[in-house]
Amino acid sequence: MGRGTHGLRARGVAQNQIKQLLAYAVGDATDEALTHIVQNVYSNSVTTRLLYVWIEDGRDVSGLIGYRFQRGFAEILHIAVDPRMRRRGIGRRVIDGVIAVEHPGELVAETDHDAVEFYRNYGIMASLSGL
Ligand SMILES: CC(C)(COP(=O)(O)OP(=O)(O)OC[C@H]1O[C@@H](n2cnc3c(N)ncnc32)[C@H](O)[C@@H]1OP(=O)(O)O)[C@@H](O)C(=O)NCCC(=O)NCCS
Repeated sequence: MGRGTHGLRARGVAQNQIKQLLAYAVGDATDEALTHIVQNVYSNSVTTRLLYVWIEDGRDVSGLIGYRFQRGFAEILHIAVDPRMRRRGIGRRVIDGVIAVEHPGELVAETDHDAVEFYRNYGIMASLSGL
């Protein structure tokens, strides 16, 4: 994925950088909860759930996407962009990256109110969580 200076990367990123971004996408963002997500939800041994980060200018980790993919169906579980880097199209590009890699027949997301507009603009059906 992404051979240029921008792109998605799955490995070789410090866990702390991932946790910092993940915190924006998780309601209960305690250090324990974030560690659990990184190590268990996206454990290397779980092949149906994947986590990628977006690298900007070949160095800064500025976005993240985590999703579940099985038999043509993809569900976005976590998506976050560094607040300083928002509204520059990174959110769109991480989703484009997942589509380019997985070619899902169906792509859905569950989210809170804040991200509904973002998904709607992209054309993804989002169901509201926590209601
Ligand atoms: C949702 C999020 C990932 C969007 O990332 P982003 O990089 O800012 O998104 P993009 O720049 O690709 O936005 C694409 C389009 O979505 C829409 N959009 C994005 N954020 C929006 C917002 N807060 N309100 C309304 N529309 C929004 C806009 O139409 C935008 O296009 P525009 O800037 O040309 O108007 C980011 O706001 C974020 O990290 N939020 C906190 C985490 C979160 O809520 N995650 C979802 C639950 S897991």
